[in-house]
Amino acid sequence: MIRTCLLGLGRTGMVIAEELLKAPDFKLITAMARPNSPKKGKVLADYILGGSQLTIQSTDILADEVRRHQWDVAIDFTSPEATLKNARILAEHGVPMVIGTTGFNTMEVYELKNLALKNQVGMVYAPNISLGINLLLTIVKTISRLLPDYDVEITESHHRHKKDSPSGTALKIAHEIAAVRKHKNHKYIHGRKGMHLRDKSEIGIHAIRAGGIVGVHEILFAGESDEIKITHRSYSRKVFAEGALQAARFVIKRIGFFSMEDVIRAELEREAVSMEASGIAPLDYTGALEA
Ligand SMILES: NC(=O)c1ccc[n+]([C@@H]2O[C@H](COP(=O)([O-])OP(=O)(O)OC[C@H]3O[C@@H](n4cnc5c(N)ncnc54)[C@H](OP(=O)(O)O)[C@@H]3O)[C@@H](O)[C@H]2O)c1
Repeated sequence: MIRTCLLGLGRTGMVIAEELLKAPDFKLITAMARPNSPKKGKVLADYILGGSQLTIQSTDILADEVRRHQWDVAIDFTSPEATLKNARILAEHGVPMVIGTTGFNTMEVYELKNLALKNQVGMVYAPNISLGINLLLTIVKTISRLLPDYDVEITESHHRHKKDSPSGTALKIAHEIAAVRKHKNHKYIHGRKGMHLRDKSEIGIHAIRAGGIVGVHEILFAGESDEIKITHRSYSRKVFAEGALQAARFVIKRIGFFSMEDVIRAELEREAVSMEASGIAPLDYTGALEA
């Protein structure tokens, strides 16, 4: 059983709690909300169907609780500020971490990476935790390489409560496209306004915040005579929970700073080995994530 601490009990955290309680290989030991949260002191069953009688705690006592429980893994879906505080404590105590929180700046990501390396602990930093989004990235990289002259515009839509924009995933998609195309001076254009003629090295990024949209990422490749549009649409937050559990299984056995691509690559390799062992010719995944 993977003894787990869950940090953040918001829209996504609660769904992860549900999946952790259902998963046969996980034991949810601790669930923490923010200090002064009205959820503190209540039990999970007050919030989720089939929830346990586990009492919700808050992260102000994380340093004490980590010594008491020494969890196998911690899953964090809070805010950048909270995650950084949590990561400093957890890394120092050798607890591997899955970080789903988005909205970090470059220096903050660098600090997370440093914490993992300095303390020799596993950390998965996964601003795009769903399998579907990662497959979309692979497809988008391939198209970018094959159609280098097509203009690219990325549009992402999320619910009205999402604070950071554009989404971490939209930025990741833009970075990957720029890297594949090897533009020397690529520019990310956030929204478009005023008098401005598009130039070849631009990648347009547009954010929509409305209602309860779970998450949509749409990438338009437009040439002079045709276009390709790739869309990923999350129907439910369960997709994030599945990714978080998969990343947790991965990170407990490793030391270092990893991405969701590393998690998926390991899963594909494991699947290939097990197919080979059962006498089935494995699918060739070579380069699947490198495209
Ligand atoms: N990686 C992905 O694919 C992915 C997918 C979905 C979401 N996310 C990211 O995950 C984060 C959370 O998303 P969400 O939709 O669940 O947001 P949310 O509903 O606003 O939840 C955030 C939660 O964090 C808690 N929190 C804030 N400060 C905290 C602290 N110091 N200690 C412990 N908990 C703290 C809040 O607690 P209270 O409830 O007590 O206020 C709240 O429950 C965001 O950064 C979001 O962008 C990432």
